[in-house]
Amino acid sequence: MQLFHTIQGLREALGAERLAGRRIGFVPTMGNLHDGHLALLQQARESCHVVVCSIFVNALQFGLNEDWDRYPRTLDADMEKLQSIGCDYLFHPADSEMYPNGLDSQTRVVCPTMTDILCGASRPGHFEGVTTVVTKLLNIVQPDEAVFGLKDYQQLAVIRRMAQDLCMATRIVAAPIHREADGLAMSSRNSYITADERPRAGQLYNTLQWIADQIKQGRRDFSLLEVEGKQQIGSAGFRVDYLAVCNSRNLEAAAVDDQEVTVLGAMYTRNARLIDNLSLTLDTRGKADAE
Ligand code: PAF
Repeated sequence: MQLFHTIQGLREALGAERLAGRRIGFVPTMGNLHDGHLALLQQARESCHVVVCSIFVNALQFGLNEDWDRYPRTLDADMEKLQSIGCDYLFHPADSEMYPNGLDSQTRVVCPTMTDILCGASRPGHFEGVTTVVTKLLNIVQPDEAVFGLKDYQQLAVIRRMAQDLCMATRIVAAPIHREADGLAMSSRNSYITADERPRAGQLYNTLQWIADQIKQGRRDFSLLEVEGKQQIGSAGFRVDYLAVCNSRNLEAAAVDDQEVTVLGAMYTRNARLIDNLSLTLDTRGKADAE
């Protein structure tokens, strides 16, 4: 695997790959890689000749009181994992390489829909930071495909919308959520969960599944389901940020006759904020298949 810290170095290397007719797959990350990230890279490998990973803890998408400074930076371990699965290129730029003019005067990419609800409501400016850095990374790498995990369902929806609105040439690909044995969605932030909380941390997923089951059984009182689900998470000792049954496409509150529905949730442990989601396809008789 070749490691690049500069845009110019990576561009030159990938330019040669492109000239040789090789298809480029890209997985942007913030590092502290786990099996879920590696699965994204393996998915990119299935349809591309060359696989590129980036590790950049993007200050622009963190709020002032968030965890940018303590976000785990584990480059050596990450590189070993990337090498073990045959990643071809790693881009690991410094802040000054990505934001040479500083953060305040950086041109921003704004998606005006889906960004101030759910995660966006509790993390103002977060999605603007994401769409800005993803645009920059896609401009740097110019991949044929970029793979994003479905765990960040709202992020994926926003990025898809941005790519469509800005006529980006890269195909945005979704990859399934990777889970621990008890259902906890894999996340770099799981390392913040304390040992005493860990046995209960699967509660967010349990509650999403319970809501999905209730919908499959015919319930359409989504607001009440949200209230009951919040009580379950509260009883397990966690504070709920949001729990919402949404239209899978536009993330608005689900309507009773919606066919594609996603249940999204976020909860706080002592040191972390965890997110998860579960999508359902309802058939015309109201029965459902969970993804
Ligand atoms: O999902 C992430 O890890 C980040 O939001 C991303 C897409 C790498 C942008 O910084």
